[in-house]
Amino acid sequence: MLPENAEDFRTIWLSPDDASVVQIIDQRLLPHEYRIHDLRHWQDGVVAISEMYVRGAPLIGATAAWSLYLASLGNGDVAKGIETAAEALVKSRPTAVNLVWAVNRVLERLKTANSAEEMIALTREEAENICDEDIEISRGIGNHGLKLIEAISEKKNGDTVNVLTHCNAGSLATINWGTATAPIYFAQQKGIKVHVWVDETRPRNQGSQLTAWELAANKVPHTLIVDNAGGHLMQHEMVDMVITGTDRTTRCGDVANKIGTYLKALAAHDNDIPFYVALPSTTIDWNSRDGVAEIPIEERDPDEVTNIYGVSNGETTHVRTIGSDTPVSNYAFDVTPARLVTGLITERGLCAASEDGLLGLFPEMKSS
Ligand code: MRU
Repeated sequence: MLPENAEDFRTIWLSPDDASVVQIIDQRLLPHEYRIHDLRHWQDGVVAISEMYVRGAPLIGATAAWSLYLASLGNGDVAKGIETAAEALVKSRPTAVNLVWAVNRVLERLKTANSAEEMIALTREEAENICDEDIEISRGIGNHGLKLIEAISEKKNGDTVNVLTHCNAGSLATINWGTATAPIYFAQQKGIKVHVWVDETRPRNQGSQLTAWELAANKVPHTLIVDNAGGHLMQHEMVDMVITGTDRTTRCGDVANKIGTYLKALAAHDNDIPFYVALPSTTIDWNSRDGVAEIPIEERDPDEVTNIYGVSNGETTHVRTIGSDTPVSNYAFDVTPARLVTGLITERGLCAASEDGLLGLFPEMKSS
């Protein structure tokens, strides 16, 4: 079950009993069942990513890295095995750029390996590094985002700060702390009064099934709302700020995130409410500029729209909610143009959603 101390929480780890097994939480089953799932072969990693046992851009990247480690343990030509796994992994979900980033990072590290043993050791080390660094990235985002919440709290003379979030950019989407949730957790730890409006996030309900679950586990006051409620709440001054995550942000600051994020940004803009995106640098796609034109948007199985997961008579089940004659489309992400984003919260600080803003914090990417 969950560790006593939030500091110790992790979403992926090497089994303490068997160094050839990677363990994850099967997020498809939450909040009704907390089940640890074993990844024994790199193909299990591909399934876990594409079928969303794990999800959230940083965790997808970390799972890919650990899957390459599993590939390195396979029989036969280790280099060939890793190459085959890498090709399959980068295709397992198209929108989150962390996937390609993590695979390339491991492959780059392996260039120095001279033996099969060294490949295994380096792949494992790199997967561990990616996870450890991700925790520090979330911590950085948390500390910088905390200042924004603090400022609003001061302006409200200590009254509750109401944050609206979409999907799950929480601990479950990263290794720990989350991106959008890290400022919220840190504000709560500091004694700032904070309350979260949790968008349900159809069709897969990452808001109602994952964000609500982890906020409840961490005792953060929150309220679940249907996806279409945000605009109404904003019109009635019930939202002080929006913080979402991102799956891929272009070098000019356009942000791809869970479908519906764009509509929240439009509503926030119309109501003069700050709309922030928590952005780990691993999610920046320095090679793209125009998000709407260039970011691949995943289309998923229509079953996710027609069927809902829940509990009936004490048993978990999927229920079909619509008739069979209606065609369904299931776009999983949309792009919020930079002009609608008040600011980006990165591990290095806050910046404008623009090329200048991002390069101000990441000057080493100027020549990329
Ligand atoms: O389809 P998902 O659940 O992988 O989508 C996740 C999101 O859209 C998150 O907001 C994003 O990955 C950021 S996670 C820190």
